[in-house]
Amino acid sequence: MALIAPSILAADFANLQRDSEMVNESQADWFHIDVMDGVFVPNISFGMPVMDAIKRHAKKTMDVHLMIVQPERYIEEFKAVGADILTVHYEASTHLHRTLQAIKAEGMQAGVALNPHTNVNVLEDTIEDIDLVCLMSVNPGFGGQKFIERTYEKVRALRKMIDERGASTKIEIDGGVTSANAAQLVEAGADVLVAGSFVFKSDDPKATIADLKKITE
Ligand code: DX5
Ligand code: ZN
Repeated sequence: MALIAPSILAADFANLQRDSEMVNESQADWFHIDVMDGVFVPNISFGMPVMDAIKRHAKKTMDVHLMIVQPERYIEEFKAVGADILTVHYEASTHLHRTLQAIKAEGMQAGVALNPHTNVNVLEDTIEDIDLVCLMSVNPGFGGQKFIERTYEKVRALRKMIDERGASTKIEIDGGVTSANAAQLVEAGADVLVAGSFVFKSDDPKATIADLKKITE
């Protein structure tokens, strides 16, 4: 059964308490929090004060996805506002290994996100140090985009690398996840599915989360 992480990017920002409580009451496992700086990606979402506000209501693991340049500058700040898992982009990290160690030193789990164009083999020298690999199945920056089919191949290749190395790294899929691709993603080796629009734009988000959970049994 996959872990389900609703992406708050698709929530109603004027009703963050209500939407956070919905996630608390649902079968979701994590909160997925997308931080965008308008530089690494062509969009700005929100930063620490909003994350802090969500954290006051959220009662589950806070999975924070930083789509920002030089993410190493803000590790302590995200710990302070409640991040449990802190994911940085491979493409934004010149000294990735050092950044992973710094995240762990703050007591968080360390994640690495890969853009659709980045091959999973770039993680061969760090996979044992990574708690979570977030495979972007859309180009980061916006919710509601179409799932990139090539992702299945990447999941399989990464699963193989992780298993061969005996690592315990989790594979997360982020972007365009729906009930139409969830089962196939888990079959390919995914552990965590992020879902934004599919959950929050549905008529009954709680039931949609339950469906995703069931599909991936
Ligand atoms: C995209 C974000 C995703 C986004 C997913 O840059 O990283 O987490 O919220 O949204 P959907 O599920 O709508 O593609
Ligand atoms: Zn994300």
